[in-house]
Amino acid sequence: MSIWTKRHVTVVVSGGIASYKALVLIRSLMKQGAVVRVAMTTHAAKFITPLTFQTLTQQPVVIDEFTTTDPHHVVHVALADWTEVMILVPATANLIAKVANGLADDAATTTILATTAPKFVVPAMNSHMYVNPATQRNLKQLTTDGLHVLTPATGMLAEGYSGQGRLPEPAVILAWLTDQLIQLTPDLPLAGRRVVVTAGGTREALDPVRFITNRSSGKMGYAVAQVARELGATVTLISATTHLAAPSGVKVVTVDSAQSLLTAVSDIFDDTDILVMAAAVSDYRPAELADQKIKKPADHADLTLRLTETPDILKTLAARKHQQYVIGFAAETQSLLANANRKLTSKKLDLIVANDVSKPGVGFNGDTNQVTLLRPEQQPVTTELTTKTAIAKQILMTAIADGAGTQA
Ligand code: C5P
Repeated sequence: MSIWTKRHVTVVVSGGIASYKALVLIRSLMKQGAVVRVAMTTHAAKFITPLTFQTLTQQPVVIDEFTTTDPHHVVHVALADWTEVMILVPATANLIAKVANGLADDAATTTILATTAPKFVVPAMNSHMYVNPATQRNLKQLTTDGLHVLTPATGMLAEGYSGQGRLPEPAVILAWLTDQLIQLTPDLPLAGRRVVVTAGGTREALDPVRFITNRSSGKMGYAVAQVARELGATVTLISATTHLAAPSGVKVVTVDSAQSLLTAVSDIFDDTDILVMAAAVSDYRPAELADQKIKKPADHADLTLRLTETPDILKTLAARKHQQYVIGFAAETQSLLANANRKLTSKKLDLIVANDVSKPGVGFNGDTNQVTLLRPEQQPVTTELTTKTAIAKQILMTAIADGAGTQA
């Protein structure tokens, strides 16, 4: 399930060189579960044929309001009433001008005027047309009228020079649309909840160039952050170094060592409803931090590193716990449930996600996981081996079922 599942989405395509990118966006929306229909201007049909959109969406394309043979059916009104989300992409200066002034002189603009659904506008045009005061005035009018407008990207234009006016990449448009839609959907299960997620493996410095770390990729924590956002939460992701792109609509705070992670979590803990400690926090750090790169001893003798324990973040915060629902992870290679249960109690957790990281397809680095969810006084629940996104959803839905973030 995504926020797009079964949504009736009408994509209005106007005529520009970026029209073809609407195809990629439509495909992504359909992959997310949306049911997409297209209305297009006659200019758009000069760039991409209606048949292309019809074949992709498996729905009739609205382009001419006078072609219907059904006397009881007003094409643009039927489409306008069917629409739950309307996206104007690419929106040319001409389409924007018409919409800003309430013109309805073809099927596309008539459908736009006739729908009460939220409207999202993705402008794309030549940079001089974009900065023209008339276009800027029209865009401002759209915002005043309650339409949501994405700022175009800056880069190489079809004209062969660089400027602002490019259609952002479809993935960027989808991320923006998803986040806008979440904000407009008040009944999501985590709406109004503040979720803090930690992710990735900490780094404990030995000297200016070396550190001790672990195999955590951060994928599990990033999946939890993304799903929490999709469920409507305000999400802060406190991330140790990873190679992952930040999920859209999520505030990211980057940290390095266990100590810096503790400081970051501690700062936000009082304003947190659900804390998900998915970070693989180093249990030890070098007792001394050398201020210069450590040299090989001249006699090639063994080098001994002395390690000292890092603060246990969850244990430190347990004493300050009030309304927070706290979720920990236990990555184990033996005695999974016994070790996880011990941590559940000693860290005063509401839920612990136990991971047998010795099993193939489970735990660090991969895209899949299989976990057991343990809660005080409750039967353990073992998930199937599935994607980290599906596991993230299961963890959060379990927390929601427990009333997470609503405790006094
Ligand atoms: O004791 P162990 O490190 O296995 O516990 C794992 C859980 O405790 C994880 O949720 C991890 O983020 C958290 N942890 C912590 N502070 C540490 C080490 C781990 O909060 N120093």
